[in-house]
Amino acid sequence: MVEALYPVPADWAQNALIDETRYQEKYARSIDDPEGFWAEEAQRIDWIKPFSVVKQTSFDEADFGISWFTDGTLNLSANALDRHLATRGDQVAILFEPDDPTTGERRITYRDLHAQVCRFANLLKARGVRKGDRVTIYLPMVPEAAVAMLACARIGAIHSIVFAGFSPDALAGRITDCDSSIVLTADQGLRGGKRVPLKANVDEALKDCPGVGTVIVLAHTGADVPMVEGRDIDWAAGVAGQSADCEPVEMAAEDPLFILYTSGSTGKPKGVLHTTGGYSVWASMTHEYVFDYRPGQIYWCAADIGWVTGHSYVVYGPLMNGATTVMFEGVPSYPDASRFWQIVDKFEVEIFYGAPTALRALMREGDDFVKATSRKSLRLLGSVGEPINPEAWSWYYNVVGEGRCPIVDTWWQTETGGVMITPLPGATALKPGSASKPMFGVKPMLLDGEGKEITGAGEGCLVVAGSWPGQMRTVWGDHERFFQTYFSTFKGFYFTGDGCRRDEDGYYWITGRIDDVINVSGHRMGTAEIESALVAHHKVAEAAVVGMPHEIKGQGIYAFVTTNVGVEADEDLRRELVKWVRHEIGPIATPDVIQFAPGLPKTRSGKIMRRILRKIGENDFSNLGDTSTLADPSVVDNLIANRPQPA
Ligand code: WTA
Repeated sequence: MVEALYPVPADWAQNALIDETRYQEKYARSIDDPEGFWAEEAQRIDWIKPFSVVKQTSFDEADFGISWFTDGTLNLSANALDRHLATRGDQVAILFEPDDPTTGERRITYRDLHAQVCRFANLLKARGVRKGDRVTIYLPMVPEAAVAMLACARIGAIHSIVFAGFSPDALAGRITDCDSSIVLTADQGLRGGKRVPLKANVDEALKDCPGVGTVIVLAHTGADVPMVEGRDIDWAAGVAGQSADCEPVEMAAEDPLFILYTSGSTGKPKGVLHTTGGYSVWASMTHEYVFDYRPGQIYWCAADIGWVTGHSYVVYGPLMNGATTVMFEGVPSYPDASRFWQIVDKFEVEIFYGAPTALRALMREGDDFVKATSRKSLRLLGSVGEPINPEAWSWYYNVVGEGRCPIVDTWWQTETGGVMITPLPGATALKPGSASKPMFGVKPMLLDGEGKEITGAGEGCLVVAGSWPGQMRTVWGDHERFFQTYFSTFKGFYFTGDGCRRDEDGYYWITGRIDDVINVSGHRMGTAEIESALVAHHKVAEAAVVGMPHEIKGQGIYAFVTTNVGVEADEDLRRELVKWVRHEIGPIATPDVIQFAPGLPKTRSGKIMRRILRKIGENDFSNLGDTSTLADPSVVDNLIANRPQPA
């Protein structure tokens, strides 16, 4: 197969911050002389006290540790706000586009944002929040979410954002895990004209969280929500009396910045912890180079702040770089499938960064919705969260970008803090579907099942050799799990959980997760999490969940369910279980297929053979492999014979 190659456009090669030669030079230096490279790159941050040590990192069990810029001190909110005031105080920092296109647009300057952050930080302090305390944020995509993040960073509190689509149960689990005593929320969220009962969800969650003493509630839709005396505070009333000055707290580089829960291959989501110094350098640097970003350009990352992309590329990276960053509350299809491109026109967005799942959904609606808009402001497009299939890539490139905007297909993870493998628009010829080349300081490697390095072209498990500043530092409350999850499979390397191919030109092609994690609409989910939700239902004896190919979502959720004896496995139960999972985790975990299974394929030692279930999920029975080690091989025939066809 001949792969299409899109050379770097001449104007990009000429004008970009990084052209091909610079990329080669800088990359080589970052690998050969990391100390020198990072000492220089870190100068993009205003340090309160400069660091003298660049890095102390080891992935080996004996002296395991990850520490960057250790003796330096800084404050991220000062880097995102205060230092811009003299030069760009009146520049718009956040352009807010509400769910309803007709009302509520906001343009918040750096000066305004600074004042709002200080006031809110003072309110947090007044409620007893101190450096190191955990603050749970359960807010819709509104500017106050960014205000809350930056206010936490300002006073050294650790924020933990929980995606506003998660259920009360999921929220409660995350509040409890990090022992957070304060929750920030809104009366309701708005998505595609529908109201999301955020405050009601918090009330429900807090029945299981006796440690929460303060809930700050943003009146967003103005709905009448019950307030608990002494615990609940109205956001506006709370900040009203606060001073617009709040001294940023001096943070050590390795002081925690935020926790973000993400799914792994075991049941309980992990609290990924990022720290202040390394993350700041990494988020700012990657944002600048990946998007060839110059201060003041209008930039839009369409991710939700509930995910890491929202942290690094809606809020922190852009604001550190003096950007005008767009925040969009709604969904791509509301009021119609033109919405994204209407926003692009309205704000004259130059750089747009989105997810393949949204593109696939829009692509299905036809080109007219795109062509009804101008998009002439667009210069660069980005993709994140999952592999982008060549059809979606080419639609994005040709229809949305009219063939003139490079696409940066960025591979990274919650754990990596920022982009790890990506084309750079002025440096890398594009191959549709390939995340291309490593970011500065990143040394990807492919290993085979035995841990042997695959050199040249080949396919294997993707690992990273050596640390980079934006790397997560621990799993909150479980450092051992951190080591076990990422550093024990292949000794001395960070294991990503992804499979990957490298071609003759050294381009990387992510092939998807090789662990029990699935990627549904760009949202990462542990199959074990969905299984434990299912078995928590009183009619379910056992459940196994696998991913299945899905045209829009990339992967869908396929659940095999064995019911308890005497339970009628019918359509009603199917509906009940779908509802149950949505209730336990949230709508993003809605199973696409539930297959009732009298038995699951197990080895004689009782281990479920997921390989076989995955094949059945894929509707591919040709290659089931060796089933002779199964305790009861007839189970498989039964599953195949009764496979329901998805609607
Ligand atoms: C997948 C999102 C292919 C991958 C930033 C990874 C991708 C997981 C890409 C992390 C991409 C992300 N191409 N796959 N460009 N970007 N992934 O933690 O499987 O939500 O391990 O971080 O998404 O998902 P997470």
